[in-house]
Amino acid sequence: MKLSDIRDLVHLGRPEAPYGVRSLSRCYDIDDLADLARKRLPAGAAAYLDGGGDDEWTLRRNRQAFGEVELLPRIMRDVSDIKTATTVLGTPMPLPMVLSPVGAPRMFHHEGELAVVRAASHAGLTYGVSTLATQSLEAIADAANGSPLWFQLYLWGDRSIAKDLLARAKAAGYRALLLSADTTVRSERDRELHRGIELPTPELSLRTVVDGARHPNWAWHFLSSPAPAFPNLSMHGPTSRQQMKEMFDGTVTWADLDWLRQAWDGPIAVKGVLRPEEAARAADHGADAVIVSNHGGRQMDHLPATLEVLSDVVDTVGDRIEVLVDSGFRRGVDIVTALALGARAVLIGRAHLYGLAAAGEAGVRHAIDILSEEIRMSMGLCGAASLAELDRSLLRAAAFDLGRQA
Ligand SMILES: Cc1cc2nc3c(=O)[nH]c(=O)nc-3n(C[C@H](O)[C@H](O)[C@H](O)COP(=O)(O)O)c2cc1C
Repeated sequence: MKLSDIRDLVHLGRPEAPYGVRSLSRCYDIDDLADLARKRLPAGAAAYLDGGGDDEWTLRRNRQAFGEVELLPRIMRDVSDIKTATTVLGTPMPLPMVLSPVGAPRMFHHEGELAVVRAASHAGLTYGVSTLATQSLEAIADAANGSPLWFQLYLWGDRSIAKDLLARAKAAGYRALLLSADTTVRSERDRELHRGIELPTPELSLRTVVDGARHPNWAWHFLSSPAPAFPNLSMHGPTSRQQMKEMFDGTVTWADLDWLRQAWDGPIAVKGVLRPEEAARAADHGADAVIVSNHGGRQMDHLPATLEVLSDVVDTVGDRIEVLVDSGFRRGVDIVTALALGARAVLIGRAHLYGLAAAGEAGVRHAIDILSEEIRMSMGLCGAASLAELDRSLLRAAAFDLGRQA
């Protein structure tokens, strides 16, 4: 039996405490938001949010790598007017920060992508919408209210599914395409297996019922909203972990990028690049950007932190295409570090999801505010009034070679 089956069987009374912003004002950084998110979520949803591939070495390494970087600020410079605006893939943005594509965010909050896109729109930020979104591309575009959207594509099976999605994304005004290339086959995340989580519809078992009872706000909203699904995949959408696994069929090759280059007339970024020569190959095949990413440590384990390979990629293709990066970014100073290494912008995954799980739209807004404030503060303390002043001379690489050449 699915959890959603009981929607029609019982009258759901609203729990006393509102699902809201009560404790948000006491969240001073992203880790505080993460703590609040973990309190609000049942264990299965929390495992889906926090988990990494296999033994989670890469997940941990992503954060560890930031601890090995030191900055050498410049002093006595006028930083009274700090400018953070930039343009990425042709999209103007007030901060060098994009909200990452995420599958099934309705597991974290019943409004899912709609809450995220409203918060992004409020801040003028770009949101990358996943193929595995739990709201339709068109509904998300409506809620964006004209603010920029990118579309993240997963490719599998019959490419006509992708062709339809591209046409819908184009018609709805999505400006750029992110091709995720690191998920040709889907990894296992043991945390999720231990918690028995099924996406997008959790199984109803004694464990999930008890877990739901311990998280009444989440359970009430989850059960009183339409069952989560992948509306953009219509009849092709998976309904179980096994179907999801089978969907990622390992057929994506460079020829698909050539095909996409013909099929999509806007900017394209290849997401999940770690090797400099493959970044060059992406440029050869017509990509406008690469996103240096290990998928937040959620796919293959034993990969390097993206911070370790970023400078090599920048040195190889930085003069031809834009280089973006993600995985493990939780602080403004992390973003400043990546920009100093030559990244054009940073994608923020779990950091915005913690806000979403903690308090919906208000929580995502809070996550954006925290990072925005921290970016400005770090730039000011570094003596950089503009993004152009963030370069490698600010970094003192302690434990590994981050590449020092400008
Ligand atoms: C719950 C969750 C779901 C994700 N789903 C997708 C997805 O559907 N497509 C995709 O390209 N990346 C997906 N990612 C990866 C993010 O886009 C991004 O690469 C990663 O979260 C960055 O690491 P961070 O979470 O440490 O910031 C997902 C990440 C999380 C946490």
